[in-house]
Amino acid sequence: MHKTKILITCPKGMPPLLKQELQALQFPILSETVAGVETEGVFNDTYALNLSLRTGHRVLFMLKKFKAKNSDELYRALSCVNWEDYIPEDGYLCVTSGVENKTIKDSRYASLKCKDAIVDRIKEKRGRRPDSGPERDRSVVHLYWKDEQCAVYLDTSGEPLSRRGYRKIPLTAPMQETLAAAIVLATGWNGNGNFINPMCGSGTLAIEAALIGLNRAPGLLRSNFGFMHIKGFSESLWNGVREKAKQEAGRSFAGGINATDISPEAVDAAKKNAVTAGVEHLIEFGVCDYADTPLRGGGVIVMNPAYGERMGVIAKLEETYKGIGDFFKQKCKGYTGYVFTGNPALAKKVSLKPKRSIPFFNSGIECRLLEYELYEGTRKVKKNMESKSVPL
Ligand SMILES: C[S@@+](CC[C@H](N)C(=O)[O-])C[C@H]1O[C@@H](n2cnc3c(N)ncnc32)[C@H](O)[C@@H]1O
Repeated sequence: MHKTKILITCPKGMPPLLKQELQALQFPILSETVAGVETEGVFNDTYALNLSLRTGHRVLFMLKKFKAKNSDELYRALSCVNWEDYIPEDGYLCVTSGVENKTIKDSRYASLKCKDAIVDRIKEKRGRRPDSGPERDRSVVHLYWKDEQCAVYLDTSGEPLSRRGYRKIPLTAPMQETLAAAIVLATGWNGNGNFINPMCGSGTLAIEAALIGLNRAPGLLRSNFGFMHIKGFSESLWNGVREKAKQEAGRSFAGGINATDISPEAVDAAKKNAVTAGVEHLIEFGVCDYADTPLRGGGVIVMNPAYGERMGVIAKLEETYKGIGDFFKQKCKGYTGYVFTGNPALAKKVSLKPKRSIPFFNSGIECRLLEYELYEGTRKVKKNMESKSVPL
């Protein structure tokens, strides 16, 4: 297949990290949107992208860009794409779409029109329509339609890349794997020094840290991607890309990872998830209050307390956030502390001045990763400085 644009989607706030990942993989950056980065390449390049990217959600390989005012024009333009060259004879097709067009009230209608154009064309060429439906585990086509601008893509990821496949036991308020990876990357932790994760919940941050520390491609944990269900997929080439990634991964790293939670069920789930991810031997688990998490040497401490939207009661959480500030000040000197939260009022209860406040989105909620430098002599912030210093 020819060289074309490849759009990698990601949650809002993540394009800067996604861009760094693409550049490290030697892909050019063509453009950046609020929730995606555009690069270019041939179809086979999507293998490495799906395998290696930690912060991307979907790798979309562009087939055609065109204009359409309404669904009839959309159908006609899509009927001209040689779908029989992409969808296998015994294939199953799923169409997804993102639509902002005044003639379309429901994006499902645009998906249906797109699906009709594809299966009608294939019926004409082969005499048989492919099966279609909502499952994303085989061939997936994505339609983007804003005003009159359309682009149609092969979704080479299929299921979003955030579904790494290791989180078999999710608990209340788990964090998406891509977000956890983005947080670890934002801290700069790379396997040196300690990664301490009190309040670990189902272990997502600790597991993503272990994968990053090992330089292990997250896609090695998955056995199915959309590109495998597109005609011309080369199994031998894919095996080569996987082998190269395995060789580039280390077996251990210099630092340590420590994950604790007050809930024995959470720690049990985190351990099981780490086993599935193949990193349980690299994480020290413990059941304890965050303030009793064992600390040695230096490194980073990353905490994701509940922030009231989905679990927890505000008054109790205020105490918890205040306690985190005390824990940082009293026990964590020599570390860089991080609090990930979607509640600015609770964040202020930490009562320390953040050095950085990095915006992220978690399930549509604007959140911040607050960074605190915890050197000797870290002081409480004076009341009148708080609102300026935590610009959530
Ligand atoms: C928002 S969840 C963390 C989710 C986690 N990032 C994940 O991906 O699964 C907050 C966690 O803090 C834990 N927690 C609450 N109070 C705690 C305390 N005093 N000490 C330790 N852990 C606590 C809860 O049991 C819960 O697992």
